[in-house]
Amino acid sequence: MTTRELKEKYFEFFKQNGHKAIPSASLIPENDPGALFTSAGMHPLVPYLLGEKHPAGDRLVNVQKCIRTGDIDEVGDDVHLTFFEMLGNWGLGGYWKKEAIEMSWEFLTDKKWLGLNKKKISVSVFVGDSEIPKDEESAEIWESVGVPKDKIKFLGREDNFWGQVAGGPCGPCSEMFYEGIEIWNDVFMEFNKTVDGKYEPLKQKNVDTGMGVERTVAVLSGKKNVFDIEPLKSIVRKVQELAKTKDTKAERIIADHLRAATFIMGDEKGIAPSNVEQGYVLRRLIRRAIRYGKKLGIEKSFTHEIGKLVIDLMGDEYPELQKNKDFVIEQFIQEEEKFGKTLEKGLKEFEKLVLRREPDKRGTIGVAWDQRILYGKDAFYLYQTFGLPKEIMQDLCRENNVEFNEKEFDEEFKKHQELSRTATAGKFKSGLADNSEQVTKLHTATHLLLAALRKVLGDHVYQKGSNITAERLRLDFSHSEKMTAEQIKKVEDAVNEVIKKNLPVNCNEVSLEKAKEIGAMGVFESKYGDKVKVYSVGAPDCPYSCEICAGPHITHTGQLGYFKILKEEASSAGVRRIKAVVGQN
Ligand code: ALA
Repeated sequence: MTTRELKEKYFEFFKQNGHKAIPSASLIPENDPGALFTSAGMHPLVPYLLGEKHPAGDRLVNVQKCIRTGDIDEVGDDVHLTFFEMLGNWGLGGYWKKEAIEMSWEFLTDKKWLGLNKKKISVSVFVGDSEIPKDEESAEIWESVGVPKDKIKFLGREDNFWGQVAGGPCGPCSEMFYEGIEIWNDVFMEFNKTVDGKYEPLKQKNVDTGMGVERTVAVLSGKKNVFDIEPLKSIVRKVQELAKTKDTKAERIIADHLRAATFIMGDEKGIAPSNVEQGYVLRRLIRRAIRYGKKLGIEKSFTHEIGKLVIDLMGDEYPELQKNKDFVIEQFIQEEEKFGKTLEKGLKEFEKLVLRREPDKRGTIGVAWDQRILYGKDAFYLYQTFGLPKEIMQDLCRENNVEFNEKEFDEEFKKHQELSRTATAGKFKSGLADNSEQVTKLHTATHLLLAALRKVLGDHVYQKGSNITAERLRLDFSHSEKMTAEQIKKVEDAVNEVIKKNLPVNCNEVSLEKAKEIGAMGVFESKYGDKVKVYSVGAPDCPYSCEICAGPHITHTGQLGYFKILKEEASSAGVRRIKAVVGQN
């Protein structure tokens, strides 16, 4: 079985069961204050899990590209990856436990589908605790389809409760194991975890399932690890061709990290390496791969070659990679060059700061020894001025027998982050609104800002990206010059004028064609099947702003109070970035 075959079968099965296929969303979350990357299929679907109507209906099937960096140190073993594909079927109020479990069972065991040996399948369900009851219902359904009692385990939150730490839709889940390895997870989302940690019933009962493509195919084809199946197998082979020595862990890390980097740069909202947010994660992935490349004796610039191969292997399933191929390759080449220089300078500085200095005295009572130490402040200086990533400093310290005061470095890092956050939040604090209300407001403000920018700067302005936290909005848009103070003022005034008029915000569900016809701006163009939601501000026949968007939004512009641009800066070539806030007058 190949990854492609698994995906095809999965889609076919769920389509036969009334599900509509929707494409993978971007790896860069649209409006998520808490996350840098899409890390599960549910992520881009949160508004619909909370009760918004999805234009494609209440039964969906998809394969979502995901990035999880939490396990980055685990990469190199048999199963961990930073980038992976996740298959999922979704019941947005459309079905519940019985149907979900029965479909899972049929897909896994029926000869027509995966035809797995029933005896090798076991499952787990939620054992319950003081807040959430035991999931007897799921256990009974598993028994009714034929799973013997001794193959149904009741486990706690760690294993059988799913949701995002920050809150939102969540619920107990039921995992399926083949020969003891987890391959699929059915989540029964019936709660909304609020900001103060309470569990409220959701408007509708949702089913969210997740099947890791690479891991499942590896298990099903009797392979021990995900690097033994395509496309990772070919990527590892290419690394081996370039390498002078053999080191399985290093080969796997390079294959995984550069595939992830290719997908981040080749995303619909392509990100370039930088020192902030997604760009910084990307930079670390590439630089870590280069370091491991050196370990394997690869002397020449090589990351772009791997990137090219990834695009060749996966570009037909993810056309955005093809579209952004030149950008991806260019960025790999540039980053590798930059890193070469940085490393040289950073190493010299590291020597000066640590190796050439008198060692400190360390010891216990009666025993003293000399110890060279990399202090947190110095490490932060190396990080900030020379871009030396933390893990490289860890390596350097290990190699030179230097003690690295990581705690101090982390504190320094946090302090710096907090300072820059306070600086951007400025004095425009949100009033009494809680986080989600504030995010909704900023979401609407983003629409108004885009419309105002087009009015002031021209029709070449399109949204290139958006990110909203409870404190501020951030909009990336196409425009190649720095905005003048006068232009910024004009845009602010235009938005404030719309706020003052207290215009209504309307939502209409129409076909994509109709949306285009009425001139709706379409960041999500052709993303969701037939029907799309169009949010417009102002008179229906001549709206101030009109965008295809999932929502949610406020109902009247007056609720925004006051709009202020904090910063206008370059984001990447031909793209500017604005950070702005709303607040009470
Ligand atoms: N959201 C669930 C997971 O990621 C399906 O495991």
